[in-house]
Amino acid sequence: MRKRRIGILTGGGDCPGLNAVIRAAVRTANNDHDYEVLGIQLGFEGLMTGAMVELTPELTRGILPKGGTLLRTTNRGNPFEYAGADGKKEDRSKVVLETVARLGIDGIIAIGGDGTLKIAQRLYELGVPMVAVPKTIDNDLAATDYTFGFMTAVAVATDAVDRLHTTAESHDRVMVLEVMGRNAGWIALYSGLAGGADIILVPEIPYRTEEIVKTIRERQREGAMFDIVVVAEGAKREGGEESYLDKSTRRLGGIAYQVAADISQHIDLEVRVTVLGHIQRGGSPIAFDRILASRFGKEAADLAARGEFGRMVALRGENIVSVPIRDAISNPKLVDTQSQLVKTALSLGVSFGDGR
Ligand code: F6P
Repeated sequence: MRKRRIGILTGGGDCPGLNAVIRAAVRTANNDHDYEVLGIQLGFEGLMTGAMVELTPELTRGILPKGGTLLRTTNRGNPFEYAGADGKKEDRSKVVLETVARLGIDGIIAIGGDGTLKIAQRLYELGVPMVAVPKTIDNDLAATDYTFGFMTAVAVATDAVDRLHTTAESHDRVMVLEVMGRNAGWIALYSGLAGGADIILVPEIPYRTEEIVKTIRERQREGAMFDIVVVAEGAKREGGEESYLDKSTRRLGGIAYQVAADISQHIDLEVRVTVLGHIQRGGSPIAFDRILASRFGKEAADLAARGEFGRMVALRGENIVSVPIRDAISNPKLVDTQSQLVKTALSLGVSFGDGR
């Protein structure tokens, strides 16, 4: 009799820790459940093309500290809105159902962010046995305290803040660092706090240029002739809009240049901009993310083997639990402007550019 089978895929943007999830799921499926694991290539695309590879513990050996994803990934490939050769979108979800039946897949672990989880939920509603693992450096998924990849991104951004500090201080400059995070300010808030930034601009708290200038002048009066501004890519001026590199795809970017141009008009310090970009997403996961990803991978394999579908693994306090996938996609998790974390930052003298 053939072994029971779990498929596993990574969807959306990559993130440090994906390989750690894959490795943990493969090991758990083999060691605890006697399941075999099929690695589905290029996210949901592999469920339409049938591009898969059997993942054995041997094949996944050594991937724990590696960034990226062994299975590759894409932001495209939504089976419900699949772009054909003529560019027209069509619903290919039936092809997914056929592939799952043909290959006798008993459960699919989808590792992804908001977009991937929405697709997973729709497929689950059509009868595909889906289990989900939340992933994003943005940490903006509801229903889990943290997503893996986030702390690695924070560590990279904090290192950048530290480096900018020494050069800012040497030259009496204002350094504006733009970090990722989409419409959530988590990476900016955490790295800004960890690096001791003077001004942190997050999407949840629209800023006023005059408040940033006020903070810079106050610091000058106190003898600090340099400033570190950490700005989330999704931040916006009060009454203004987000800055897009490409509005049609809603690709954020460039707000740091806007902030720099605005404040330059009012201060006599030089202003420089650093856009950190995909460095935050590449490379090896830090220990926290390796452990969280491994715990998620184990729990996801357990859920699939127990037949608990339509559920997503999540971190709640110290424990890994499971929640309905739909709970994670209902609303993004944003920075609470009245939270203890924000209040701590304010007590430490951080300005959010809103005059508090
Ligand atoms: O969601 C993760 C993320 O890195 C965001 O922080 C960022 O806005 C986006 O993906 C960048 O996407 P892409 O890799 O497609 O440019």
